[in-house]
Amino acid sequence: MYVVTGATGQLGRLVVEGLLAAVPASEVAVAVRSAEKAADLAARGVTVRVVDYDRPETLADAFAAGDRVLLISGSEVGRRIPQHRAVVDAAAAAGVALLAYTSAPGAATFRLADEHKATEELILASGLPYALLRNGWYTENYLGDAAGTVARGVVLGSAGEGRIATAPRRDYADAAVAVLRGEDANAVYELSGDAAWSLPELAAELAKASGKPVEHRDVAPAEHLAVLVGAGLPEGFAEVLVDVDAGIARGELAGTPGDLARLIGRPTVPLADSVRAALTA
Ligand SMILES: NC(=O)c1ccc[n+]([C@@H]2O[C@H](COP(=O)([O-])OP(=O)(O)OC[C@H]3O[C@@H](n4cnc5c(N)ncnc54)[C@H](OP(=O)(O)O)[C@@H]3O)[C@@H](O)[C@H]2O)c1
Repeated sequence: MYVVTGATGQLGRLVVEGLLAAVPASEVAVAVRSAEKAADLAARGVTVRVVDYDRPETLADAFAAGDRVLLISGSEVGRRIPQHRAVVDAAAAAGVALLAYTSAPGAATFRLADEHKATEELILASGLPYALLRNGWYTENYLGDAAGTVARGVVLGSAGEGRIATAPRRDYADAAVAVLRGEDANAVYELSGDAAWSLPELAAELAKASGKPVEHRDVAPAEHLAVLVGAGLPEGFAEVLVDVDAGIARGELAGTPGDLARLIGRPTVPLADSVRAALTA
């Protein structure tokens, strides 16, 4: 059985679609918090197991010997080490055949990567066959409100000219499917878009695709923090994002080793295509 956690999230849904395009639904299970959110998948023949990373007892029956499991990292920053430990422990107790994990780039030293590094250590210590999918940044992180960015005419950040090798979630999802269905074990993939771009280049792409002026404004970290908090982000999370921009300025998300394109057997989707799609959505 292929088992996907976080399968009702944005990445997880794409992974499940990729699996269902390749194998019968009877070979696919999801381990999710809400059976209701996964009702559409159950209706298509996918096995739904209800789990909560925060409640280890719910994970006891989530996996079986021989399963090929994708642990999609949790979304609650600061709580993820015990959460992921509970999943790794359950996978080890079951004796799964593969534990794949959506991690962070190996070059990342910003705080957001700490929980991913700790999870990688837990997985290595478990002795399970593993695959570390060190996902770079999603293109969608920058295009969630593309129309709003164009309307304001400003791409704001504190990453300077730092470059970011993003790819859309779909590309990372296709890579996860390839790894789940592949033969490699104990492999580490540094997944990124084929090309890296900077925030000034993002502003130029948005201007080109919209026909409206969009400028890049680089600000000091303290001002970046104030803008994010002013926009309604909780201060702790805003600090995490500003810290990521410092990592981007240091070049920590700029690597383009090509692992993602190799796994999916095609080039990753370029920024310009994602910008056009976001503005016409
Ligand atoms: N590389 C990047 O640029 C980037 C950006 C953002 C996040 N991430 C990481 O990548 C992960 C997947 O991204 P995404 O866009 O798919 O995020 P997402 O849409 O927020 O999905 C997160 C998934 O994790 C599940 N989850 C959260 N806490 C859980 C718990 N306690 N027990 C069981 N399931 C739990 C959620 O369940 P529900 O569906 O019930 O909410 C959801 O399905 C994120 O969780 C985060 O770790 C990466």
